[in-house]
This record gives sequence, C-alpha cells and structure tokens, in this order.
Amino acid sequence: MDTLYAQIADDLALDIQQGLYVPGTKVPSVRQLSKQRSVSISTVNQAYALLEDRGLIRAKPQSGYFVRQGANDPIMAPPMSTGSEPAVVGKSELIGRMLSVVNGSSHTNLGAAIPHHSFMPLRALQTHIQKVSRFQSQEVFNYQFSPGYEPLRKQIALRMREVGVRVHSDEVVITQGCSEALSLCLRSNTVAGDIVAVESPCYYGFLQLAKQFDLKIIEIPTDPQTGISLEALELALQQWPIKIIAVNSRYSNPTGAAFSTEKQESLFNLAQKHDVKILEDDIYGEIGFAQSIHTVIKKFDTEGRVMYCSSYSKTVSPGLRIGWCIPGNSLKKIMDLQTFTTFGPASVSQYAMSSFLQTGHYDKHLRNLTTLCRDNIERVTHAVRQYFPVGTKISQPKGGYILWVCLPNNVNAIELQLKSLKKGINIAPGDLFSNSEHFSHCIRLNCALPWNDELRNAIKKLGELISR
Ligand SMILES: Cc1ncc(COP(=O)(O)O)c(C=O)c1O
Repeated sequence: MDTLYAQIADDLALDIQQGLYVPGTKVPSVRQLSKQRSVSISTVNQAYALLEDRGLIRAKPQSGYFVRQGANDPIMAPPMSTGSEPAVVGKSELIGRMLSVVNGSSHTNLGAAIPHHSFMPLRALQTHIQKVSRFQSQEVFNYQFSPGYEPLRKQIALRMREVGVRVHSDEVVITQGCSEALSLCLRSNTVAGDIVAVESPCYYGFLQLAKQFDLKIIEIPTDPQTGISLEALELALQQWPIKIIAVNSRYSNPTGAAFSTEKQESLFNLAQKHDVKILEDDIYGEIGFAQSIHTVIKKFDTEGRVMYCSSYSKTVSPGLRIGWCIPGNSLKKIMDLQTFTTFGPASVSQYAMSSFLQTGHYDKHLRNLTTLCRDNIERVTHAVRQYFPVGTKISQPKGGYILWVCLPNNVNAIELQLKSLKKGINIAPGDLFSNSEHFSHCIRLNCALPWNDELRNAIKKLGELISR
C-alpha cells in the first residue's frame, strides 16, 4: 500500500491526466485539500512536493499551485524491438567499464542497477547478523550444504504462495544471488551450441552468462510495455531448436515491462506445446507499482518445466548474496551441481536473512521501497523530459527502479558513457542489453538513488552532453 501523501498525489495526478484540471488552472489550496481529505497540512505539502517533482504542478508565490503546461502530454514510449537470429554473445568489455566505477567511486551511479545504501534496511541487517552470529555461532560458521538453510527455504516457499505458487520447501534451493540461480539452471539444462530465446533488450548479465557456456542467443521482438512478442516467439520456436525461453515476466531489466497474468499463462502453454523449458527471472517482482502483477509463470507450471529464479539483491541487499531457485524437475541436477561447485552461499547470510524475514518487517520495508522507487522513476522521468532533446523516448516501468531511455538515433550511447564518466556520471549504454546494434542510441538509468540536487544536476548534465 502507498503512503497517504502518495495516494493523494496519485489522485490529483489522475485528475490532471483526465483533464479535470487543465494546464494553467489552479489546484485546491493546501488548506482546502487538507480539509477535503481530512489529512494534515504537512501530508498535503508532501503530496504537492511530489507532484512538483513529477513536473505536474508548480507553485506561484502567494497564489498557490497551478497545473504545468505539458503536464498531461503523453510520454513517448520506445517502439517494439526487432529481434535477431541466433548468435554467440560478444561485448563483455563494455560491462567492465560500467561496473568498475561502482565500488568506492564518487560517480553518480545512474549505471549499475544497484540500490543506494539508503534504500536498504541496513540497521536491521546489522542487528540480525549480530544476533545470529552470537546465538547460533556453531551453525552460522559452519557449512550449509545445498539446498540451503531449511527455515529460509520454508519462508521463501510460503512467500511464493502470494504469487500463486504452491511449492514445498524441499523444492527451493538457496543460491548465491540470482546469478548463481540462473547459472545453475542454464548449466544443468544446456550444452555448448544450444539456443536460448531472450527478450530484446534483456539483462546483460544473462547474455554474458550464456556466453560463458558457449550458448547461442536468439533475441525475440519485445514490447517495452508488455514484454516479449508471443507471435514472434512462436515463429522462432517453429524455425529453431530453442532449448530455453528466458524472460523477466515481471518488471524487465531494462524496460520495466510486465506480462499480464493471461500472457504468463499463454507463454507457459506455448513452451509446453514446443516442449521447451522456461527460465523465469523475477528479481524485480516484489517492487511492483499500482496495478502490479500478482502472479508469475511458475504458477501455471504443472510439470516442473519452469525454472523460477530470484534474489534479495534488489529488495534487501546485493552484498548478502542471497537468491533462490525453484527449478522444477531440474532440482536433483541443480543440487548436485551446486554441491560440487560452490556448496551454496555463506551460512551467515542465510541465517541473517531468515532472521530478518521472521520479524515480519520485510513487508513494511518493501512498501516503503516500492513507494521510493516509484516516486524516483517519476522524478527522473520528469527530469529526462525536461533536459533531454526532443525525440527522446522513455519507458514507463510497471515496477523496479530502472528507466530505459531511447535517445535520437544519431546519439552513440557508448561515446556518451565515456564523456559522462569524465563528468562523474555513470550510465549503462544500450549496447550491453543486446547482441545486436539495435540499441546503440539507448541508455538505462538506475533510479534507486536519493532524489536531490546532485541527481537532478547529473541528469541535466547528461542532457547537455547529448545535445552537444
Ligand atoms: C534481471 C536480473 N537478474 C539477475 C541479476 C543478478 O542478481 P544477483 O545480484 O542477485 O546475483 C540482476 C542484477 O542486476 C538482474 O537485474
């Protein structure tokens, strides 16, 4: 549930969008609205500050708040992508440049999709790490073999019910982040040369993982709002011996697209018809905005075909390295593979995460995080509209905290990245997210950063670099 001020801001934003208040007209005064909604003056002030940040209203001294010109202009969304034929992945060197400036650097991190530390429940994590290492030291400092710490698996199995998945805790494997989950699923289901179908654009880490295992990637045309095109996917399934379909069904990295529940079911049916496995990466799934999707493809899996992967890296802390997979009928292979490669993630992280979940504070944290992310997505969207050149297209994510921005075609995002790094700003160039050259003019922006002058100025500076 949203905070009160966010609800009030949303209601007014809807009125503006629907033309109840046209640009130039005055919205209710702070006092009027506080009376109308029976809320405090400070709640209305917070709602109006948010609407100002979103670029919907502006304050006129001594006169009140007015709807901004252009407040209800539609945002131009990036177009459907075109896809490409199966090919081995390249481009790994580009990723190093983006990641190398993350640790210990003073750059504004609009590049890597990492939540700023103020978005993480640091105090609670400190407390739980201390607690488990003090009171369960023998277990915490020992091995925790695959499939991982049972109480944590039980907690995850229970939480999966909220998205329609009923699994036993023995079907859950705790992994070293979502990365290990994806890696185990790929390795246990493919051999070199196999073809994996992905959305276009898609998470760069997945492309690079496929490269490590000598797999070929076929990019399927994808809508930045609704995700992979099932028609195009079916054609590809008819034409190529695809082994796995890998998707972010809820809140794609990088576009924020989400599949409706109906689409999730249709994708499952398609995979069943062609006897192909699905690798579902739901890492942003719990950060859904209004009208978020409360199901996953795994819900429709009656036969162990879907390998579901996720982690707490985006919601709690990437440094804990706690992820999980529910790999269906690949369970045995995956447990063997994990046992004989890593044994599984650090015990202290598993115990601490379980202890944190047990308090019940995770849901409250998620609600706050989701509001923060949604507000920031809107603020950054507004700043991009304000400072970037005409013709810029911006995704409208349904969840998560990243924006996909397509710049005018003549902009080279890799050159932009080099220039912006010199100005202390890190961005992710679109080329990372595809094996093709289709996104050379696009960038991905991380919005899980505190909204302040530094961030606003960084976006303004980027706009200037693009327009030069
Ligand atoms: C879509 C997606 N999947 C997986 C990962 C890797 O997650 P983890 O840090 O839990 O290994 C990321 C990280 O950015 C991601 O965006």
